[in-house]
Amino acid sequence: MSDVNQNSNYTTRDSGAPAGSDEHSLTVGAGGPIVLHDHYLIEQMAQFNRERIPERQPHAKGSGAFGTFETTEDVSAYTSAALFQPGVKTEMVARFSTVAGERGSPDTWRDPRGFALKFYTSEGIYDMVGNNTPIFFVKDPMKFQHFIRSQKRRADNNLRDHDMQWDFWTLSPESAHQVTWLMGDRGIPKTWRHMNGYSSHTYLWVNAEGVKHWVKYHFISDQGIDFFTQHEGDQMAAADTDFHTRDLFESIAAGDNPSWTLKVQLMPYEDATSYRFNPFDLTKVWPHGDYPLHEVGKMTLHTNPTDNHAQIEQVAFEPNNVVPGIGFSPDRMLLGRVFSYADAHRARLGGNYKEIPVNRPRNEVHSYTKDGHMRITPVSDPVYAPNSKGGPAATYPGQGEPQWAADGDIVRSAYVDHPEDDDWGQAGTMVREVLDDAARERLVDNVVGHLLNGVSEPILARAFEYWSRIDPDIGARIKSGVTEKKDQPDPKVDEQGNPARSSMQAKV
Ligand code: NDP
Ligand code: HEM
Repeated sequence: MSDVNQNSNYTTRDSGAPAGSDEHSLTVGAGGPIVLHDHYLIEQMAQFNRERIPERQPHAKGSGAFGTFETTEDVSAYTSAALFQPGVKTEMVARFSTVAGERGSPDTWRDPRGFALKFYTSEGIYDMVGNNTPIFFVKDPMKFQHFIRSQKRRADNNLRDHDMQWDFWTLSPESAHQVTWLMGDRGIPKTWRHMNGYSSHTYLWVNAEGVKHWVKYHFISDQGIDFFTQHEGDQMAAADTDFHTRDLFESIAAGDNPSWTLKVQLMPYEDATSYRFNPFDLTKVWPHGDYPLHEVGKMTLHTNPTDNHAQIEQVAFEPNNVVPGIGFSPDRMLLGRVFSYADAHRARLGGNYKEIPVNRPRNEVHSYTKDGHMRITPVSDPVYAPNSKGGPAATYPGQGEPQWAADGDIVRSAYVDHPEDDDWGQAGTMVREVLDDAARERLVDNVVGHLLNGVSEPILARAFEYWSRIDPDIGARIKSGVTEKKDQPDPKVDEQGNPARSSMQAKV
């Protein structure tokens, strides 16, 4: 009897037993029908039909790699988290993505980029699910679903639509800061290696003595920042849809491992009430002049996935994955996300998604969850708590889950204002004080091109007003740019008046 395992090139069925053929199904005679008991053919067909899983609702297009995070500085005065203690090295996985595009959409569409990190710490999994921007379009989770729908496809023609994008943005003035950022140079990073990652949200750090600080994370690219202009992004979208995916994979394969330096802004817990901006408002940054950056460590990506589906498509990031020494903050967007992601994973991957190897903690798990579809880790009695049978008890030493004080009537309302909490101020600062003349010119061109691509009245008039409130000069330049070009012959219509191919493509 031959042992299949002695020849590793021998095809087996999924059961491990030898397959009859890679080429021929089982038939009644060479010209006859296929028989039902060709279970190997059936296994091939049935498994194939189930290969695709639902794509992520937002952030469907992306890829990633494995790496190591090393804490190089001493921030133990601020957090007791095991991964942030001096000298600790933690294995991790990162996934980068666009937000609105589907799987297969171009990597170089204008969009924020996801910057999702999973750290396999000695105290459990820590996920930092950020973006390449320090801010966001909305500040209440009630608006997130509407926002994403406005960026995706219309119901009737199944096309992306700038009219609905600007309709939502101009009716949501809190989007101004993020839209300014998006329409600027960083809206199309040259590669994922050439962009920063931000927690965007404020989190809570607590040290071993229980002292608390609010914290914002900045993963600064050691490769530097680089970007594509709109024209370059469009060209690349046509030439190589998967340019960013390819760039990351090939860089790591060539040993050119990208790295990011983690720096944090730290705000003493008590400052939150008196700070000039609401420090939990996701549409605002903390200016560096108010809270400077402190270095923490370095993340290096050094290992490519070997099975993109198993290791990247099925990786499940969730902001609720925090570890001792790290907590949430009153940012309502963050609190909404703490529910949303695990729910999305249960829908997309199944209830036992944490059993998929890339999602499994590397430390021992002593939880009381059990059973369900595809549960593979055996549990043992006792299966309930409290118990007197020696089962685990929630007695982990330390400061417990970091929390903050809250009080008041239960209401549906906007945030309580802080002195400088308007929607336009920080966007205006970016335009006037961060961008140089050339970057401002590209910003104007990008917005003009975007508005000319299908935005109708009265939304167009609202868009001019929106930009004037960000900065009067930029607003005037955008208005005159659109007005001048609107009256020119439409380059997207050919001599016969038929739409040219590019007019069918919304470039966001
Ligand atoms: P700083 O001059 O200290 O910081 C400005 C920051 O802007 C830079 O450090 C850089 O962030 C970022 N930046 C540079 N060019 C661009 C660009 N084309 N698009 C987007 N961001 C860019 O000033 P402040 O901290 O006082 O912030 C001023 C404005 O800068 C803010 O209103 C905000 O719009 C923007 N900004 C601020 C950040 C912060 O956390 N304070 C982070 C990013 C933007 P980096 O060093 O992270 O690359
Ligand atoms: C993906 C919800 C805001 C970053 C997702 C997914 C959902 C979701 C359901 C798909 C998850 C999956 O299927 O794996 C929400 C909600 C938000 C919100 C409800 C606000 C209330 C944000 C913000 C950021 C962010 C503010 C960044 C700071 C990401 C990233 C991914 C993602 C990076 C992709 C993760 C991956 O690579 O798998 N979001 N999101 N989201 N979101 Fe959000």
